[in-house]
Amino acid sequence: MRYIILSSIVTLIVLGSIMCTTTQPASKASIIELPGGKAFAGAAACQSCHQDIYKDTRHTAHFLTSSLPDAEHIKGSFVFGKNKFVYNEDMEVVMSRMANKFYQTGYVNGMPTQKEAFGVVIGSGRMGQTYLYWSGNHLFQLPISYFTPIHDWANSPGYSINYIRFNRPVPASCIECHGTYAEAQILPDNSTVYNKQKILYGVDCERCHGPGAAHVAYHAAHPADTVPQYIVNTARLDRQLRLDACALCHSGIRNMIQPAFSYQVGQHLNEYSTENPSNGQLDVHGNQYGLLTASKCFKQSQMDCSSCHNVHKDEAKNPRLFSDRCMNCHARKDTCTFRPENGLVLANNCIDCHMPAMASAKITFKMDQHKEAIPDLVRTHRVAIYPEETKAFVDKLH
Ligand code: HEC
Ligand code: HEC
Ligand code: HEC
Ligand code: HEC
Ligand code: HEC
Ligand code: HEC
Ligand code: HEC
Repeated sequence: MRYIILSSIVTLIVLGSIMCTTTQPASKASIIELPGGKAFAGAAACQSCHQDIYKDTRHTAHFLTSSLPDAEHIKGSFVFGKNKFVYNEDMEVVMSRMANKFYQTGYVNGMPTQKEAFGVVIGSGRMGQTYLYWSGNHLFQLPISYFTPIHDWANSPGYSINYIRFNRPVPASCIECHGTYAEAQILPDNSTVYNKQKILYGVDCERCHGPGAAHVAYHAAHPADTVPQYIVNTARLDRQLRLDACALCHSGIRNMIQPAFSYQVGQHLNEYSTENPSNGQLDVHGNQYGLLTASKCFKQSQMDCSSCHNVHKDEAKNPRLFSDRCMNCHARKDTCTFRPENGLVLANNCIDCHMPAMASAKITFKMDQHKEAIPDLVRTHRVAIYPEETKAFVDKLH
C-alpha cells in the first residue's frame, strides 16, 4: 500500500517536472537521499521512459524478494486447520489474520506466550519465505517460515524444534541482499535500528543501476537527449565489475568490511566485503559466482552472468531457452560428445546434465521432531560433466 502511495507521489513529481520542462534539481524527483548527494527515485519513476523493462521486472524473483505483508505476498495459509505449526504435544505456533494484519502466536500448554505481527516478507516463495516483525525500530525474525516444496509452514531455517524462538535480530545485510535500500544504523550495543520510512523493498532497478534520481531529473528536463546520463549500465563496465554487481548477493554470505549498502555498482566489491572462506567448499546454495568461476566455460571465455540470464525477465524453469544460450558458444552439432541411444534431443535441455539441481548442505527445513530435515534443491553453477546426473536424467526419460 505504502509502495503504491509512494509510486503515485513519484509519478506526480515526474509528470510535474516533465510538464514544466524547467531544469529541476535532482532532489525533486527523489524519494530517499543518501549522504554524499546521490538519491533514489524509486522504480515507479522509471516506468514512463522504460515501460517494457518496468513491466517485465514486476514478475521477477528479484522484485518479489521482499515486500510489506499482505495476502498476495504471504504464501502460507491462514485457513483454520492449515494455520498451525506443531512442535510437540505442548507447543505450537498459530498463524492468524485480523483484517489486513497477520500474526504468529506462540502457545505453550494452550496458553499464548508471545504474539507478533508480520512486518516484512523475505523471499519470493520460489523456495520459501521467512518473515520479520517490528519491535520499535528493530527487526526480528518470526519463528515460523514457509517452505515451498511442501507448500506448508515450517520451522525457520536453523531453528531448534525444542523452543519457540522470537529473539533473532535481523542485521542490515539481510535487507542489503533482499532489498534495494534500507536506512539502518548500528547502535553502541551492536543492535540495528531501521528508519521504516526509508526502506525500498524488492531488488529493483536502482539496486543494479545505482541511485537514479539525477538520471530521472536530467532526462525529464532534456527529453530530446538520448545519451544516457547519471546512471550505470553494468554492460559497459569491465568483466570483474560486471560480475561484482551480481556477486554482491550471489557469492554466499560475505565478510563485511564496510557497512551494508556502502557498495554501489561500478565499484570493486572486494573493497566492501570479501568472500567467506567457508564458501570455499563451493556449496551449491547462493554461491553461483564461486561455482561459475570454477567452470571451464568461464575460464576459457569472457562469460559473465548475462551470458545466460536476462535479469529483466522471469525466465525460470525454461530449459530450452537456457540451452539456446549455451549454444551461443557451443553451436557446433558435435559439441556434446555424449551419444544418447533413445533419440533424446540434447539441444532441448543441456542444463539437467551439465548444471544439475543438487541438494544444498546449508539450507534445510525441519518439519517437526519426527521427520527428517528436507534439503533445498539448487542448481549448481559449476558447468561440467556429471555422469551420475546424466544417468538419472536419461533413466527418467525411459
Ligand atoms: C524521462 C525519461 C527517463 C526516465 C524517467 C528514466 N530514464 Fe533511463 N534512460 C533514459 C534515456 C533517454 C536513456 C538513453 C537511451 C536508452 O538507453 O534508452 C536511458 C538509459 C538508461 C539506462 C542505460 C544506460 C546506458 O549507459 O546504457 C539505464 C540502466 C537506465 N536508463 C535506467 C533507468 C532507471 C533505473 C530509471 C528510474 C530510476 C530510469 N532510467 C528513468 C530516459 C529515462
Ligand atoms: C541485492 C542483491 C542481489 C543482486 C545485486 C542480484 N541478485 Fe539475483 N537474487 C537475489 C535474491 C535475494 C534472489 C532470490 C529471490 C527470491 O526468490 O526471493 C535472487 C535470485 C536470482 C535469480 C533466480 C531467479 C529465478 O526466478 O529463478 C537469478 C537468475 C539471479 N538472481 C541472477 C542475478 C544476476 C545475473 C545478477 C547481476 C546482474 C543478480 N542476480 C544481482 C539478490 C540479488
Ligand atoms: C549475501 C546475500 C544474502 C544475505 C545476507 C541473505 N540472503 Fe537470503 N538469499 C540470497 C540469495 C542470493 C538467495 C537465492 C539463493 C539461490 O537461489 O541460490 C536467497 C534466498 C533466500 C530465501 C529463499 C527465497 C526464495 O523464495 O527462493 C529466503 C527465505 C531468504 N534468503 C531469507 C534470508 C534472510 C531472512 C536473511 C537475513 C537473516 C538472508 N536471507 C540473508 C542472498 C542473501
Ligand atoms: C538484478 C539486476 C537488475 C535489475 C533489478 C534491473 N536491471 Fe536493468 N540491467 C541489468 C543488467 C545486468 C543490464 C545489462 C545487460 C547486458 O549485459 O546486456 C541491464 C541493462 C539495462 C538497460 C540498458 C538497455 C537494455 O535493455 O539492456 C536499461 C535501460 C535498464 N537496464 C533499465 C532497468 C530498469 C528501468 C529497471 C527496473 C524497472 C532495471 N533495469 C532493473 C541489471 C538489472
Ligand atoms: C560464453 C561462452 C560459453 C557459454 C555461454 C557456455 N559455454 Fe560451455 N564452454 C565454453 C568454453 C570456451 C569451454 C572450453 C572449451 C570447450 O570445451 O569447448 C566450455 C566448456 C564446456 C564443457 C566442458 C566442461 C569440462 O569440464 O570438460 C561443458 C560440459 C560445457 N561447456 C557446457 C555448457 C553448457 C551446458 C552451457 C549452457 C548452460 C554452456 N556450456 C555455456 C564456453 C561457453
Ligand atoms: C543427457 C545428458 C546430456 C545432455 C542433454 C547434454 N549433454 Fe553434453 N555431455 C554429457 C556427458 C555425459 C558428457 C561427457 C562426454 C561423453 O560421455 O562422451 C558431455 C560432454 C559435453 C561437452 C564436452 C565435450 C568435450 O570435448 O569434452 C560439452 C561442451 C557439452 N557436453 C555440451 C553440451 C551442450 C551445449 C548441450 C546442449 C545442447 C549438452 N551438452 C547436452 C551429457 C549431456
Ligand atoms: C552458462 C549459463 C549460466 C551462467 C553463465 C549463469 N547462470 Fe545462473 N542459471 C543458469 C541456469 C540454466 C539456471 C536454472 C534456471 C531454471 O531452471 O529456472 C540458473 C539459475 C540461477 C539462479 C537460481 C538458482 C536456483 O537453483 O534456482 C540464480 C540465483 C542464478 N542462476 C544466478 C546466477 C549468477 C549470479 C550468475 C553469474 C555469477 C549466473 N547465474 C550465471 C545458467 C547460468
